[in-house]
Amino acid sequence: MHLCGPTADRCFRNLRKVLGKTEPRLQQIRQTHKLRGSPEFRSPCDGNSANGSTLVLDDELHQKDWKMRRFLVAGNWKMNTNRQTGVALAKELAAVAKMQEPGVEVLVCPPYPYLLPVGEALQGSAVQLGAQDVYFEAPGAFTGEIAVDMLKDCGCGYVLIGHSERRHVMGETDEIINRKVVASIAGGLNVVLCVGELLSEREAGQTETVLDRQMAGGLKGVSETDAAKVVIAYEPVWAIGTGVTASPEQAESAHEHLRKWLTTRYNAEFSSRMRILYGGSVKADNAESLLGQPNVDGALVGGASLKSASFVPIIDAARKLAK
Ligand code: 13P
Repeated sequence: MHLCGPTADRCFRNLRKVLGKTEPRLQQIRQTHKLRGSPEFRSPCDGNSANGSTLVLDDELHQKDWKMRRFLVAGNWKMNTNRQTGVALAKELAAVAKMQEPGVEVLVCPPYPYLLPVGEALQGSAVQLGAQDVYFEAPGAFTGEIAVDMLKDCGCGYVLIGHSERRHVMGETDEIINRKVVASIAGGLNVVLCVGELLSEREAGQTETVLDRQMAGGLKGVSETDAAKVVIAYEPVWAIGTGVTASPEQAESAHEHLRKWLTTRYNAEFSSRMRILYGGSVKADNAESLLGQPNVDGALVGGASLKSASFVPIIDAARKLAK
């Protein structure tokens, strides 16, 4: 039995957690792995065995909820920084994330006016550039709005859509959010679709209903192929900027629900590949416990992403877990 590298180790570590299995049972599960030579059978583990054949988990394991997704640690700078502080922060991050890493992706989303200088500061590093919002129409007479093409032109690979501040401060509906999702994917951007319930909705026991509505609304008419360009970010509104973080159990429960929703809407294989980030008061001291949950595939970080001293430890927590 040859394991296929760090990601597979992460799979097993999480499998142990998810299934609550003891070592002997895990050994037994490991025995069920098969080595197959054909690239068609490439596992989402994404690694090759020493002899060049690809390690594939058998169907039993594919049904299980195990880690095979690359962490995404994203900084949402919101309406913060100026050109000088934004560029300085980007340079610091570029210095700590120079190379693409197999297990962790890093993204920053600065305010629109700083996309270009921040993008320049990130050149040659593995830190990716994203925007915080977009408009769904093609370039034209839409004063104050920004088109997908413009974001691409500025070097963005990602765009956040449906952030709670867009929903609750700017009054964006699921329909608007859906149009933005569809336009962004069509224009070649990766989308981070944000969902999350208000405190009153959680207290009324409506968390899952709200998530279902936001997911169905945001992904309306989005095919499986197009949805492959989407990352979900679960951000409970009561945890955003409040210092009150969802407990790892609360986060895991919501993420598990979202994954089940994806299984029903698309299919189990697709759902197992979709990344679901957690956002809401993620900090250096809680990142590892949140990211260590089987269904938490990264973090969307607000306040703590504004200083490298507080953001880099979150990246490091993901790096540690990805090993
Ligand atoms: P905080 O990390 O400041 O709570 O913000 C979370 C968020 O809204 C990220 O999009």
